[in-house]
Amino acid sequence: MKKFTSDRVNILSPVISGSAARFDELRSTMRRAIDPQDATGFLEFGNADAGRDPFNPDAHIRKAALEAMEHPGKDLVYTPTQGLLEVRKAIADKCERENGFEVDPRKEVQITVGTQMAIFCTTQCLLNPGDKVLIPDPDYSGYQRIVKYSGGVPVSFPFREDPDGQTRFDAEAMEKIASPDIKLMMFTNPNNPGGYIMKRDDLEAIAEIAEKNDFLVFADDLYEKLVYDGHEHISFASIPGMKDRTITIMGVSKTESMQMFRIGYVIAPQRILQHITKLVSAILIRSSYLSQKALQAFINEPKKYRDMRRDIHRKARDYVWKEFNKIDGIRCNKPMGTSYVFPNHREINPSSYDFAVNLLEKGLVQLNPGRQYGPEVSEGHQRFCFASPMDRLEEGIRRIKAVREEL
Ligand SMILES: Cc1ncc(COP(=O)(O)O)c(C=O)c1O
Repeated sequence: MKKFTSDRVNILSPVISGSAARFDELRSTMRRAIDPQDATGFLEFGNADAGRDPFNPDAHIRKAALEAMEHPGKDLVYTPTQGLLEVRKAIADKCERENGFEVDPRKEVQITVGTQMAIFCTTQCLLNPGDKVLIPDPDYSGYQRIVKYSGGVPVSFPFREDPDGQTRFDAEAMEKIASPDIKLMMFTNPNNPGGYIMKRDDLEAIAEIAEKNDFLVFADDLYEKLVYDGHEHISFASIPGMKDRTITIMGVSKTESMQMFRIGYVIAPQRILQHITKLVSAILIRSSYLSQKALQAFINEPKKYRDMRRDIHRKARDYVWKEFNKIDGIRCNKPMGTSYVFPNHREINPSSYDFAVNLLEKGLVQLNPGRQYGPEVSEGHQRFCFASPMDRLEEGIRRIKAVREEL
């Protein structure tokens, strides 16, 4: 038979071997074999424990979606491709109020199905084959695959890892790798998986390098509300002169626990946004009305709900950070933001896939191998998501300690 699948789609399933393949195989077998609801069985800390209290959408959000369903109208089916104007206006007001930059709701906002779709549409609109994209190491694992699928070439630059175990932005390292060949830089702030929050100086350094080399910046602000200890999240688009160079994405899948609505949005200058909208129209025409109404309810909610959710995350962070640091051979950062710790286990095992396989085989506990987040700095780490109920966190930590004892 001919090979029927496209070369393009095969980019999304790279051939993996060795401990990476073993990790994937073990994880899928365990997912199939053991009831994930059973806390004594296989425990996953790769992602948030969505749908399990306290990581459910709040009652006022669920009510908004139910009300939208109770009162169907023509809008219910046919919202504009960009999304309901009232929701885009709420987004524009929020950006001005909370993020310090102005947005035209008619020309600069596109509502998407999760922010993942915004990432895909942006790279598809911007990249030609061979275009280079600067991505920090560590950063969100989703970027590399989508950039490659869109024909681009990811170019990574290292964060520096300090003795406190925190990986931090390093302007000099970025400057060294940046060149006029770069078309786009992509980064999360707060950083997934390292939990670092960019300071104003960091963002100004990125702005200077972007201007000098004339590239665009993709600012992923998905974790903007998950910030701790009085740290401040600053949107890159609010840095003077940068709005016209910036594509910003924001969503509700993290602090908000609204994964089930699959909704997010992208803000970009009109010259770019119009192409993103064309692509959304071609791929799935529009996002769901119910989810758009839930998004609107979230944007307009009183601040106390966000504070409550952030406090739940902070307590979990404090617990896992302390416990990881009690393990011999592990150095764990105290993340400034996000729902992840990124412990360094190089002293126990320099390979993140090998160590992740040990944890799966011996402890029935799954963490995400650091290698997924970058080629060098990230190796020798695991990403552990602490958006999980306390009893599961305690059991997870107990198992990790037990595996460590055996090694
Ligand atoms: C940094 C980052 N961006 C984007 C996404 C996609 O999120 P969603 O499509 O649920 O909004 C994720 C998911 O984990 C993420 O961590």
